[in-house]
Amino acid sequence: MATTDAKTGGRVARSMEMYERLLELIPGGTQLISRRPTRYALGVSPVVATRGKGSRIWDVDGNEYIDWVSAIGSVILGYADPVVDEAVKAQIDKGTNFSITHELELELAELLVERIPCAEMVRYARGGGDACAVAARIARGTTGRDRILFCGYHGWHDWYQAANHSSDGNLDEHLFPGIEPIGVPKDLAGTAIPFPYGDLDGLAERLERHRGEVAAVMMEPMRSELPAEGYLEGVASLCRDHGAVLIFDEVSTGFRPSDAGVQPVLGVEPDMAVFAKSISNGFAMGAVVGRRDVMAPAEQMFVSSTYWGEAVGLAAAVTTLTELRKRNTAETLATNGAALKQRLNAVAEEVGVAIRCTGIDYHPHLEFPVEDPALNNKIGTLYVQEMAKRGNHGYTSFYLNESQGETEIGMVADAAKEVFTLIGETIEDGRIDERLEAQERQEFFRRLVS
Ligand SMILES: Cc1ncc(COP(=O)(O)O)c(C=O)c1O
Repeated sequence: MATTDAKTGGRVARSMEMYERLLELIPGGTQLISRRPTRYALGVSPVVATRGKGSRIWDVDGNEYIDWVSAIGSVILGYADPVVDEAVKAQIDKGTNFSITHELELELAELLVERIPCAEMVRYARGGGDACAVAARIARGTTGRDRILFCGYHGWHDWYQAANHSSDGNLDEHLFPGIEPIGVPKDLAGTAIPFPYGDLDGLAERLERHRGEVAAVMMEPMRSELPAEGYLEGVASLCRDHGAVLIFDEVSTGFRPSDAGVQPVLGVEPDMAVFAKSISNGFAMGAVVGRRDVMAPAEQMFVSSTYWGEAVGLAAAVTTLTELRKRNTAETLATNGAALKQRLNAVAEEVGVAIRCTGIDYHPHLEFPVEDPALNNKIGTLYVQEMAKRGNHGYTSFYLNESQGETEIGMVADAAKEVFTLIGETIEDGRIDERLEAQERQEFFRRLVS
């Protein structure tokens, strides 16, 4: 493996020098685990951004990339979208945080209630984990119960991370392996319990074991594949039978499946749902929506924060939701995602390597023909490294946004042709370590939901 030392003057030398200073001053070097450069190809892929526009970002070294991560899904229309940004700038001139409720609180609430199937009342937050914690509190308060069954990733808060106090492995399949719940009160052990995706019996067994104690079943209803027929209906029915609040965490699916979220696509209505990320095209915002009988008791609960009604986030959300409908973004993402999969699969076939691009159209991912997990991770790192050199920043999956079009699909396919060829050669000759110039990426979020 080549050095990641900034002094070698590589393509991201300035980034690496800044990264060293970041590590000195900020534990972990950044605010979000998925943004840690160790999750890409450290030493080759971009580390520190300076700006973004449309489908592109630029790092501090002056390299330009198509960003296939779309700010970890939070950018859905494209970076610095002119319409959303104009609304935000106008709001800044009119004031951002007030002593009384801002009129946009009502406008966004009416929009969400009109659009999201399960929504009759709403509360706001500033991000996904924040909104999940609000939902967990409301469900506990409404039912008077403490335990929460969960499936998927739901943020950094105590209520969720407490799962690893009962067993070190509780978050392995939902978040990533080996997480120690450092700093999370041990007395919360047993309050958050994981259940396996797709297994109705497993959920029924846990509900039965904790009969009368489960406040909520919180889950990512899907991620990159559609659920098996009848599965979510079964989950909803079990929740009804046990008096548990069913909460869909739609932070990651967001408004990519449709401009009303994932519920119209799945045909199942939860009792509550949580949104963040793509609701506001990169501005800080989150929302918890739900049926009136579940949400209304929150009036009596201490669920309160100064910036949840701040007007920039509200303006960004109202404008983003309006634009998503006006532009029919969900259809564009589906069409482009299907084209991307088709092009990458054609490239793989042309160069004769059994790489597959698969998954739901708006969120495809690559599969490499390598069984051994250790080698697979190295091949994944080689892919990230070589694509970065060719101006494509991403994981081995694609979080699409609307500003990526035919040009970007063509560019990623051209780059993939060279990179897939190299991967094919590497699988054949086994000379992976020689070709890795970057530090091998650390395993990233691995969730049970597929
Ligand atoms: C499904 C889901 N829930 C919650 C979160 C947490 O959101 P945030 O990072 O905004 O706190 C994420 C973030 O990736 C997510 O994917």
